[in-house]
Amino acid sequence: MNNVTNLIYREPSAPVADRVADLLERMTIEEKLGQMMQIDRRYLHDEAHLATFHLGSLLSGGGSAPEPNDAKTWADMVDRFQRVALSTRLGIPLLYGTDAVHGHNNLYGATIFPHNIGLGAANDPELMRQIGEATAVEIRATGPRWTFAPCLAVARNERWGRTYESAGEHPALALTVAKLVTALQGETITPASMLATAKHYVGDGGTTGGVDQGDTELPEEELRAIHLPPFVDAIAAGVGSIMVSYSSWNGALLHGNAYLLNDLLKGELGFDGFVVSDWAGINALDGDPGFSASDVATAVEAGIDMIMVPELYEEMFALLMQVVASGAISQERIDDAVVRILRKKFELGLFENPFADRALAPEINSAAHRALARRAVRSSLVLLKNEQSLLPLAKDGLKIFVAGENADSLGHQCGGWTLTWQGGSGPTVPGTSILDGIREVAGSANTVDFAADGVGADGHDVAIVVVGEEPYAEFSGDRRAPDTLGLGDDDLRVAERVAASGVPTVAVLVSGRPLVITEQLAHWDALVIAWLPGAEGGGVADVLFEEATPTGKLPHSWPRTAEQVPINVGDADYDPLFAFGFGLAYE
Ligand code: GLC
Repeated sequence: MNNVTNLIYREPSAPVADRVADLLERMTIEEKLGQMMQIDRRYLHDEAHLATFHLGSLLSGGGSAPEPNDAKTWADMVDRFQRVALSTRLGIPLLYGTDAVHGHNNLYGATIFPHNIGLGAANDPELMRQIGEATAVEIRATGPRWTFAPCLAVARNERWGRTYESAGEHPALALTVAKLVTALQGETITPASMLATAKHYVGDGGTTGGVDQGDTELPEEELRAIHLPPFVDAIAAGVGSIMVSYSSWNGALLHGNAYLLNDLLKGELGFDGFVVSDWAGINALDGDPGFSASDVATAVEAGIDMIMVPELYEEMFALLMQVVASGAISQERIDDAVVRILRKKFELGLFENPFADRALAPEINSAAHRALARRAVRSSLVLLKNEQSLLPLAKDGLKIFVAGENADSLGHQCGGWTLTWQGGSGPTVPGTSILDGIREVAGSANTVDFAADGVGADGHDVAIVVVGEEPYAEFSGDRRAPDTLGLGDDDLRVAERVAASGVPTVAVLVSGRPLVITEQLAHWDALVIAWLPGAEGGGVADVLFEEATPTGKLPHSWPRTAEQVPINVGDADYDPLFAFGFGLAYE
């Protein structure tokens, strides 16, 4: 940091508005434009460029982590970047963001909570608060002060690859997830806060056909009724940033939609934080690949304050300078964007405390956080069938047969956005697989045999078949028509083999969405929906053996056939296999 002293913007006791005004006045156009750019750490090919291009924000997108991927290396990395930023003429600190969407999931060893679809089934505001607070601690210990959460999507078509990032098909469930804003930030944004992001504004979960980044074709009245309410709540809770959706509304890309961004979000709803684009989200505006002067001008004039570039920052900087020089973006708009960004940096106390809070590191994946995650798993499970009260299982004397790849794959039970963008298979993160949870809870009083392929069920008292989906994220997870939305071939073979044994069967579904299982259901005596429970798979066994009774309710209408999709509560001729809000308890 240079030798600037006794300047208002450096005075912690001065009102934020005064500090912002004082700093803005001192800034060159280069310094202002740098604040409006966000780069993924992977593409910063010279750390000195943080100063050269006056960059105001860095991010860790899905899977963007230092090597080794541990808390100290994260903190060293973020602090090192911060020192470069603080060495500049005005010493404006960086705001570092990361996708912590079900725990600090880019960090190896973080507590991995259930994805939002399971939290929608739990629908417990107090649980959301505790998850948000625990997640904020684990993020802060490693340096970032901004997470791109909560996702407030209202998923209306389960073909969408991001259905699991939504709390469900009804906006009321997204209101529960919106409680994460206060959990992360507190009642107001202070130096103790983790900056939250309400995303993706607006209508990301309403596209025709459930196509990711597709077109939400709705009259404004329905867009406002279904997709806007969680953003209204998030703004009322003081959310500091809002991320724009890649999708379109009636054919117009959100990233260039001045009516929805300027008039509705910032005008009518009075949002006073800053609007960040999605990853390279402005590039599509002119219909050509890459970003252009018109992309930049359209996006910023429409109301985007910070551009998640996220890669070619030298080109973006030059383009921004060119666009401003041409007058295509007004000085007033630039100043408004920079004021919105600086206001959050001052409120977060970044000028006084820019570095990682390393003292919090022992709380990462602490026993308390893991217990919270396990409780969240228990609360998220939905019991859909329980013939002859097969569940809960007796706690002794049972010969139990467990089958299915998803029983023994932490990667599958965590889903996407876990250590990598798309997630993975096998023991990707520390935690408890569903199988290990069953072995732990069943203990020595029972025998537990496992065969992923389902061979060998005969002679057992009960079979537990764990089927569902492999991980995915975003468009990779779209299952577009005429996909039957059913189980994969391996799972179907496992289900058939176990059904052929005649052994009473509990099916456990590990998936990011409802799947069409109507045909298989006839061979299952009990069915438990576990969604994407995260790393504490023991929570599933807790419910199977009645350490906890099932309380979850369906956040989605469960289709009989793929042809029924989209099917949402309130539809005419509504005839799902299981209705929105359905869930059994133990008798
Ligand atoms: C992604 C996602 C968004 C995420 C961002 C940064 O493409 O759409 O949810 O926060 O980029 O990783």
